[in-house]
Amino acid sequence: MKVLGIETSCDETAAAVVVDGTQILSNEIASQVEIHTRYGGVVPEVASRQHLLAIIPIIEQAMTGAKVTWSDLDGIAVTMGPGLAGSLLVGVNVAKAVAFAHGLSLTGVNHLEGHIYASWLTGRDIEFPLVCLIVSGGHSDLVFMRDHGDYTVLGRTRDDAAGEAFDKASRILGLGYPGGPAIERAACQGQTSLPLPRAWLKGSHDFSFSGIKTALLHLVQEGKVALNGPDSGLPTVADAAASFQEAVFEVLVTKTVAVAREYGAKQVLLVGGVAANRSLRQKLIDESPLPVVVPELVLCTDNAAMVAACGYYRFRAGKVAGLDLDVTPGLKLA
Ligand code: KG4
Ligand code: ZN
Repeated sequence: MKVLGIETSCDETAAAVVVDGTQILSNEIASQVEIHTRYGGVVPEVASRQHLLAIIPIIEQAMTGAKVTWSDLDGIAVTMGPGLAGSLLVGVNVAKAVAFAHGLSLTGVNHLEGHIYASWLTGRDIEFPLVCLIVSGGHSDLVFMRDHGDYTVLGRTRDDAAGEAFDKASRILGLGYPGGPAIERAACQGQTSLPLPRAWLKGSHDFSFSGIKTALLHLVQEGKVALNGPDSGLPTVADAAASFQEAVFEVLVTKTVAVAREYGAKQVLLVGGVAANRSLRQKLIDESPLPVVVPELVLCTDNAAMVAACGYYRFRAGKVAGLDLDVTPGLKLA
């Protein structure tokens, strides 16, 4: 079954063609990052206008790259939420128009579910039950999955998402936007010498990252980080980045491993934009007693192949949408 995936929930316009939820024929992404960098973050109105400009060319590229015509496709999967309303609307309306014009089935995909299904594009066998850590710009969720489409959210962030905390920490350290990759690059040159707290929230599987970020802000404001280059033995920006990254990852990895044990999971999945971080990938692989599945980097950050993969399993379960499909910016998992 060949599924066209469409993703426009935030600032990437993406289209992909995937066979049977596992084999990528094409995976095209038009990133808006250069445009939003000017503003230090995603500007929703700018994002939806850019989606309008990019969506048709990116679908054409995905179709051409996959060497398929409309009659070769079996269905269209589109992200319907969570995300920015104006951005989601572009993808959903284009998907509906194309499905109507070509008589194709349509299914609406939860963006977080999409991130999870990037794991099916790794070529690894995925075994249930499993525990999945979703770490993105908007979410940090620990999810227990008994089967396809069967999710129980065991823990989530009570304040900042992990990616959001990276973006804010990067701004505090003057490392710019997008913050995750900038912190990762800086951290490679640093030592974990800056004392930062960890919020364990004992007895709960939830996370909290705003305290780490605020502690970092206070240390910077108190002049305890050498912001203007190495000097007088103070921790450098690279040290601060390494310490911040370590504090966030220690909590994420420790809690994920504990939950996987507690729930008798057979595997641990690591997905979402922050899963592109090599230190996090390695730390979870090193510390998990269970096999860890992590998608390749381009499938961790937003893409449409994951949406098509998820769409395949939805079609298989008979979850087909009508042309009244609408966006749900606050859509929840489960
Ligand atoms: O999944 P994603 O592309 O979009 C959302 O659904 O939010 O995740 C984006 C987030 C951003 O906050 C970005 O800073 C973070 O993922 N991110 C990273 C890395 N690459 C992206 N965080 C840490 N290390 C990275 N290498
Ligand atoms: Zn995402």
